[in-house]
Formats: sequence, C-alpha cells, structure tokens
Amino acid sequence: MTVTPTRTVTLTDDATGKSWKLPVLPGTVGPDVIDVRKLYTDTGMFTYDPGYTSTGSCESAITYIDGEQGILLHRGYPIEQLADKSNFLEVAYLLQYGELPNEKERDDWVKHITYHTMVHEQLISFYNGFRRDAHPMAIMCGVVGALSAFYHDSIDIHDERQREIACHRLIAKMPTLAAMAFKYDRGQPFVYPQNSLSYAENFLYMCNSVPAEPYKINPILARAMDKIFILHADHEQNASTSTVRLASSSGANPFACIAAGITSLWGPAHGGANEAVLKMLMEIGTKDKIPEIIRRAKDKNDTFRLMGFGHRVYKNYDPRAKVMRETCYEVLSELGIKNDPLLETAMELERIALQDEYFVQKKLYPNVDFYSGIILRAMGFPMSMFTVLFALARTAGWVAHWQEQLREPDSKIGRPRQLYTGAAARDYVSIEKR
Ligand code: CMC
Repeated sequence: MTVTPTRTVTLTDDATGKSWKLPVLPGTVGPDVIDVRKLYTDTGMFTYDPGYTSTGSCESAITYIDGEQGILLHRGYPIEQLADKSNFLEVAYLLQYGELPNEKERDDWVKHITYHTMVHEQLISFYNGFRRDAHPMAIMCGVVGALSAFYHDSIDIHDERQREIACHRLIAKMPTLAAMAFKYDRGQPFVYPQNSLSYAENFLYMCNSVPAEPYKINPILARAMDKIFILHADHEQNASTSTVRLASSSGANPFACIAAGITSLWGPAHGGANEAVLKMLMEIGTKDKIPEIIRRAKDKNDTFRLMGFGHRVYKNYDPRAKVMRETCYEVLSELGIKNDPLLETAMELERIALQDEYFVQKKLYPNVDFYSGIILRAMGFPMSMFTVLFALARTAGWVAHWQEQLREPDSKIGRPRQLYTGAAARDYVSIEKR
C-alpha cells in the first residue's frame, strides 16, 4: 500500500451507539476509498457487497476509468490517443512497465515477444484431442492452462526474471494458440508464426494463409486488427482481471492464472458479449423488428438484454465503442462492403435505444462489444472466434495486473467472507429417522 489516509469517516451502530473511525484513502484521480481492512477486527462485522459494486479490491496504477465522463486512461494516456498513435505491443509494454518505451526499449521488447511466438510442438496433440466442433474458447481454456506443463522454467512466481519471461511467453503465444484454434475449426493445417511480421500482421497471416497459395496481408485490415487489440488490452478490475488476481493470490502459476481469466471472460455478460451481439443482430434481421427487441429488453419479466449495451462502470458512451465504430467504417469500406445489413441494423438499434426513456434513464450506452463483431465478421472470423480475440488482447492487461499484484509487498490471498443464511448448528439425524 503506497497511499496514506487523508481523513476519516465515522461509522455508527445506531443500536448500541458505538462508533468507529475509518481511514479514507485518496487516489490520484477518481473517488476516494474507505479503508475497511480492520473493520472485522474492530467491529466484528463484515461489509456486504455481492457483485462488488462499491468495493475496491486492490491498489492499482495501470488503468483508470471515469464512467460518468466516458474516459479510459492506460497509465494516464487516453485510449483514443493510444488507438490512433500507438500499436498493440507498445500498449502492452506501457501496461506492463508504466511508461511508453524509448526506441531501444521498444526494439528489445518486440524482440523478446517475437522470440517466443512458437509453441511447443507437442501442444498440437492437445488440439487434436478436441472434437472438431469444439468452441475455440473451450480449446483456449485448455491449451493456455496446459502451457504450465510445458514451460517449467517460467513458473516460479518468486523469481522476477521467470515472471518476466512468462509475460513474454503469454503475450507472444496467444496469437499462435488462437490462430491454431481457428485453423482447427476450419480443418486447415496449423500455420507457424512469421517473426518478420508485426504482431497483428502475424496473427492475420497465421489465421488466413494456407500452404497452397501465397497470402498477401492487407495493411488496412492489419491496422484495424491492431486497433481492436489495443481497445481490448485492459479495463481495470473487471471480472476476468479480478479472476486472474484472485487465482494469482493463492500463488498459482502464471499460465494457470491466465487460463482462469479466459474462463471468466467467456461469459456473455463479459467478453462473450461480442458473439452475443452478432447473434442478436442476425436474429433481428430487419430494422422493422427493432421495436420488438427494444420492448423485450425493457420487459422486467423477460431475461433478454440488449447485448453490447450497458456497463457496470460506464454511465456514458464507452470511449472504446466510439473508436470501434470508426474502425468498423474503415474496414467495411476497405472490403468494399456497402450497406451491410448488420451494420445498418446496429446503427438503427443504437439510434432508437439512445432516444428511449428506459435506456436514457438507466444510462445504458453501446459498449466495446457492440460494433466489434461486425468488423470481425467482415474480416472473415466466425462468431466463435470473437471472444478468443478479446482474450488474446486482454492477456496484455492480465499479465500487467498479475505482475503488479505479485510486486505488492502486503498482498494477501483473496478470501471474501459472506452473510451466512443457512441452518444454525444442529445434530446429525440418522437415515431411518429422516
Ligand atoms: N439491456 C436491457 N437492460 C439492461 C441492460 C441491457 N443490456 N443492461 C442493464 N440493464 C438494466 C438492468 O435490467 C437493470 O435494470 P433495473 O435497475 O430496473 O433492475 C439496470 O439496467 C442496471 O443493470 P445491472 O445488471 O444492475 O448492471 P450491471 O452493472 O450489473 O451489469 C452489464 C452490467 C454489462 C453486465 C449489463 O449492462 C449487461 O448485461 N449488458 C449486456 C451484456 C454486455 O454487453 N456485456 C459487455 C460488457 S462490456 C465488455 C466487457 O466488460 O467484457
């Protein structure tokens, strides 16, 4: 903990009149936090916050979100500037080390990452063990966890150098593993990485090239891919990042921790939303069905939600969604796709939702997943790969948080408590008496 309290707040038990002073810790920007670490020792009570809507789980200097203003900063730099001027590997460096690299640092970093792009040849057996129709996210959960069985020389979490190599390996191998999952789905041969290419180019190459003919990388699509990676690189203490941190707090190895993050990302409320958005747009089909979808999204008795809308933190337009929408236009125009019916449906849905009292009042805006599926589909990715691409990019953030947590001197195993509402102690009843 690097922060010192600036003031206190008083908590009073109205029944007994007892009161306790709780320290308040200031952040650089954003809301202050009430330090409740001694609350149980002092009061014998826990806080209750399922879903962690009011709980700061850690101290972090990586990413800042102002949900009211729609601001996202990585190490202080606005996401719009990073998406416009930087590239994914530079952003990954920034997340990891806290500063933009100088030329030498950037070259060394790129060299370290590209050196590790290949995966152990025996990992191919893992892929072959999956059914052909396996969801690529299911494959990713398995193969990323399996890396811990192959790279024993980078699983000692107390060795700073091993930790660094684990980060290089994870960032470097994710595109290779993701492209292999894609190729397995297609029934095409795996393509080895090509280290002369940039990170995004290499990924597109591994996904799209076949041995039968040369593959020419489209620089506009490669730049769009890189931007999509930047937009997904990190997002503070979301469900998957918190999962990585929780897994890591027990001392688990880096590959196991990132595999845990992937499982958490898969859900449709989180990274799985990009797949769900496209399914929803396809189901809507034509613009005249939009009012019915809006009606269902607003209906309390219907579990349906407008996918790609709403966010726990953003109560304003998600800044990533803005960049994603622009990228969507660039990609569709490059591919000569005019009047894409899915894009038209999405834009009309957005227009109607943003005027609707329900969405306005609840501050539900399009999030990063709303437009990403349309771009990825136009680029030739099947829906099942969308969340895999999210996981690939988010690995940069996950490993940065993993390192940050392990460097925290007073880090503890994550162990929430509960409000117990089950039976009180009672005697065992033998089966003949039940
Ligand atoms: N459609 C319709 N109603 C919604 C939606 C939506 N997409 N999102 C929230 N609401 C309503 C919700 O029913 C609730 O209403 P009420 O107060 O009357 O009960 C209110 O808005 C607040 O919602 P909440 O579920 O309490 O908010 P949350 O912070 O727990 O959930 C969310 C955030 C992202 C899970 C949710 O907005 C959602 O399910 N969105 C659709 C899935 C999605 O697009 N997820 C991607 C998130 S961005 C990428 C990422 O983080 O991975």
